[in-house]
Amino acid sequence: MTYKAEKIVPFADRENTKGEQIEIMFDEIAPQYDKLNRMMSFYLDKAWRKKGILSLKKFNPQRILDVATGTGDLAVEAYNLLQPASIVGIDISEGMMDVGRKKVTSLGLDDKITFGWQDCMDLQLEPDSFDAAIMAFGVRNFENLDKGLQSIKNVLRPGGKLMILELSTPEHFPMKQGYRLYSRFVIPALGRRLSKSKEAYKYLPRSIEAFPQNAELKAILENNGFDEVDYKKLFPGVCTLYLATK
Ligand SMILES: C[S@@+](CC[C@H](N)C(=O)[O-])C[C@H]1O[C@@H](n2cnc3c(N)ncnc32)[C@H](O)[C@@H]1O
Repeated sequence: MTYKAEKIVPFADRENTKGEQIEIMFDEIAPQYDKLNRMMSFYLDKAWRKKGILSLKKFNPQRILDVATGTGDLAVEAYNLLQPASIVGIDISEGMMDVGRKKVTSLGLDDKITFGWQDCMDLQLEPDSFDAAIMAFGVRNFENLDKGLQSIKNVLRPGGKLMILELSTPEHFPMKQGYRLYSRFVIPALGRRLSKSKEAYKYLPRSIEAFPQNAELKAILENNGFDEVDYKKLFPGVCTLYLATK
């Protein structure tokens, strides 16, 4: 199936595929990514990652795959809260992972968290080998959503868990109206001033608006063969946590 979000790209005037454009964009914003994330989410991104990871605690996953790991914040949080045997972070942006590698080295976690270039559309990892896959703010960028979800499912062991955190638009007044103004005007202006990319922070709100959320993403996960799919909106309604089982 084709989804509207797959057609939303950062650089509409370029010929590259969505995946290539995403890689270029994240390489460009990598040095400022963490700082902008904190500022734009009013430091809530950290609490969202924590909630997402804690939803896995009772399953005690030992081998974890952090899909679209970026600068590795979710992987570090997973290590701190779950103490698994190993975490593999994969991403298509070496620029983002370089920031992550430095972070992990400075925390003395090189033997626990490793990084590698992998495109989630076609993961070159052993099938059925991970107890859990985790992904924060990555799925919205997929060039082919079904293909990405299938590829993740393939590397999860039967019964393994998929935890996704993704930004979503609030549904009710006054958050809905406030968020619209914030995302259309404040985010692009802040991004323009503080990152090297004019396009990246215009792409962000457009991609959130176009991406299937809540019950719609739950149905897509089910159509891709995941069971026990559940979701809940996290405070203040601009981030949703999804949990699914292979
Ligand atoms: C918004 S960042 C999120 C980074 C990190 N997970 C976090 O919590 O901050 C999205 C990341 O998804 C990565 N990404 C997008 N499409 C991907 C794909 N097909 N395969 C692997 N990584 C991908 C991007 O390169 C980028 O680093």
